Amino acid sequence: MSEHFQVHGGARLVGEVDVVGAKNSVLKLMAAALLAEGTTTLRNCPRILDVPLMGDVLRSLGCEVAIEGDTVQITTPAQLNHRADSASMGKLRASVCVLGPLVGRCKRAVVALPGGDAIGSRPLDMHQSGLRQLGAHSEIEHGCVVAEAEGLHGAQIWLDFPSVGATENILMAAVLANGTTVIDNAAREPEILDLCTMLQQMGGKIEGAGTSTLTVHGVDALQPTEHRVIGDRIVGATWAFAAAMTRGDVTVRGVDPHHLDLVLEKLRLSGAEVTIDDSQTFRVVQRDRPAAVDFVTLPYPGFATDLQPFAVALASVADGTSMITENLFEARFRFIEEMVRLGADARTDGHHAVVRGVERLSSAPVWAPDIRAGVGLVLAGLCADGMTDVWDVFHIDRGYPLFVENMNRLGADVRRI
Ligand code: UD1
Repeated sequence: MSEHFQVHGGARLVGEVDVVGAKNSVLKLMAAALLAEGTTTLRNCPRILDVPLMGDVLRSLGCEVAIEGDTVQITTPAQLNHRADSASMGKLRASVCVLGPLVGRCKRAVVALPGGDAIGSRPLDMHQSGLRQLGAHSEIEHGCVVAEAEGLHGAQIWLDFPSVGATENILMAAVLANGTTVIDNAAREPEILDLCTMLQQMGGKIEGAGTSTLTVHGVDALQPTEHRVIGDRIVGATWAFAAAMTRGDVTVRGVDPHHLDLVLEKLRLSGAEVTIDDSQTFRVVQRDRPAAVDFVTLPYPGFATDLQPFAVALASVADGTSMITENLFEARFRFIEEMVRLGADARTDGHHAVVRGVERLSSAPVWAPDIRAGVGLVLAGLCADGMTDVWDVFHIDRGYPLFVENMNRLGADVRRI
């Protein structure tokens, strides 16, 4: 039987919590190490399951990967294997990010369609279309993305949608292409800026990092580097929501508060006092029952879809009615069925959810469908009477280092069974 968390409701979360490097950054930075022969060192890496899983993907391509504490070292050989191990690829979504670097370095790649969260359909059409515009042929064959190119050339690429993964793959292929590539309507997530920063340290010529137009002047080769992963804004926001929901007082260290501008503004509207202490620290204090606020998920700098379950959890105990709109992943509302087990007054209609806040939720056994929804259920359990069992917590372990320890240090009563 798998592990589960027992969440005893009623605690007020108070104290300080440290957040380490972002899952959605470190995995892409590990893939970027494929672009340069030699040893790349990443620091501030989170101790989560996805990091060794990504290590297995890189090993299958010929790299040596050493993980020690918060440091990951990747030694990339002169000759990479262009075929990634399917079993490893299937274990995490971010594995698809080896596609761009492999096409850049080897001019060919065979990578199995990736696994990851069950949050809705996640096609790769924009990844493939971008690689085709750089001069590669790309098809799906026998469950794998197969890409091959005589040589890569610069191109003007307009993305239909600012996809994080497509932007990263195209960027990592374009840094080694012949000539200049312009990616328009590129994703602007802080993790993309982190990737651009590392690629620049490696010798990549990129203009417009952090904006929706990335101009990449291809170079012949990149050098390995040493890089510190940015703090995980999604984990940071988790503690902010936990404080708001439990009428707590939590100081979050290790995340740039500006990566959470909209999130912290929403929490202010909900009644929290939010103070920015410095470039890596903020504090959220909630004295009364939170007020209902509406949330709309959008690409950055909009409200992140990864935080939508926390918005639903907050709305379920807020004073008033909230409307939550999910614009990225249609299946992300499935977890609302689990919230209803906990007594939430919530219903969905297409990509909208209407949540009428209740004074107190009521404990029940619930199942985590993915990382963020699983954490949303734990947050809801903190506001339920009695003991809530959250099952399938292996999802949470994929994204949150020391989750139970941090919860309990802040005064919650959460046990891993
Ligand atoms: C990344 C994050 C994920 C986050 C998401 C949106 C990682 C490992 N995961 O996922 O946590 O929720 O960004 O912020 O970093 N799409 C297409 N065709 C494509 C690519 C995407 O239609 O070729 C669609 C997707 O179905 C989705 C939307 O674009 O509706 C956004 O997806 P994308 O930004 O690519 O998300 P991921 O990179 O998969």
